[in-house]
Amino acid sequence: MVANPTLMFPDRAEEIRAATSEKLLTVENVNLEYRTRERIVRATHDVSFDVYGGDRFVLLGPSGCGKSTLLKAVAGFIQPTSGTISLDGQAVRGPGADRIVVFQEFDQLPPWKTVLQNVAFPLRVAKKLKRAEANERALHYLEKVGLASFANAYPHTLSGGMKQRVAIARALAMQPRVLLMDEPFAALDALTRRKMQEELLRLWEEVNFTLLFVTHSIEEALVVGNRILLLSPHPGRVRAELNSHQYSQDSFGRSDFQRSVARIHHLLFEQTETA
Ligand SMILES: Nc1ncnc2c1ncn2[C@@H]1O[C@H](COP(=O)(O)OP(=O)(O)OP(=O)(O)O)[C@@H](O)[C@H]1O
Ligand SMILES: [Mg+2]
Repeated sequence: MVANPTLMFPDRAEEIRAATSEKLLTVENVNLEYRTRERIVRATHDVSFDVYGGDRFVLLGPSGCGKSTLLKAVAGFIQPTSGTISLDGQAVRGPGADRIVVFQEFDQLPPWKTVLQNVAFPLRVAKKLKRAEANERALHYLEKVGLASFANAYPHTLSGGMKQRVAIARALAMQPRVLLMDEPFAALDALTRRKMQEELLRLWEEVNFTLLFVTHSIEEALVVGNRILLLSPHPGRVRAELNSHQYSQDSFGRSDFQRSVARIHHLLFEQTETA
């Protein structure tokens, strides 16, 4: 038996937000599989969720539960075996500039391009901007992530955190309908990771984008997200959906935050036997 999706931490403000902001992304009864010559690996089972404009929606679950696969399906890199994914009411049929992904790996920036060229290039190709316009917009977003003075640097001269900032600037410069992030801070040291989470929240307030964020860290999910979808271990099924907008960096160590961590841990792992 799978636990019904339960809404924890219900909050009036959240209800109002859901009622007033527009539904942007809909994932409905999505099954995802990998077919190899030897076997079929089911990655997710019957997953449904809605992301509203301005959400910081987090997919949280243990390793192998299909988070990255789900994100790839939303990005349009893979097709569901059943179920539908739609953005603004249109079925997602492939990759598009309305969904940009930031990955965990530090090598997502072509090393032969400067920081500015890295951010400006997709704007020229996908958005058909002229060089001057693309550079101007690229510089604007580099300023937002605090890297304008590194515009002419090459990626190999940057730290991991700086490379991730460039990747975020490049994604935001495209002004996607949804920004997709797959464990973007997981390869950073703990202090830098916290700093990046804080910066992401500040950027979200400044730039006002919609975020779909994947992590297997409960703490990161609570800090980064305003809503969290808990997925059960492989194959990923929806275990619960909860609100978490009341938490920020300052919540670490607070007793209500720790209680939420413990509750989510229980939902994720201790029901496994009965799921
Ligand atoms: N290219 C592939 N071919 C076959 N099976 C795959 C492939 N990619 C992923 N899988 C399988 O699909 C399942 C879900 O994988 P996925 O990478 O989506 O998990 P995840 O939740 O992102 O895990 P992690 O937290 O470790 O990144 C796993 O069982 C994995 O082994
Ligand atoms: Mg993954």
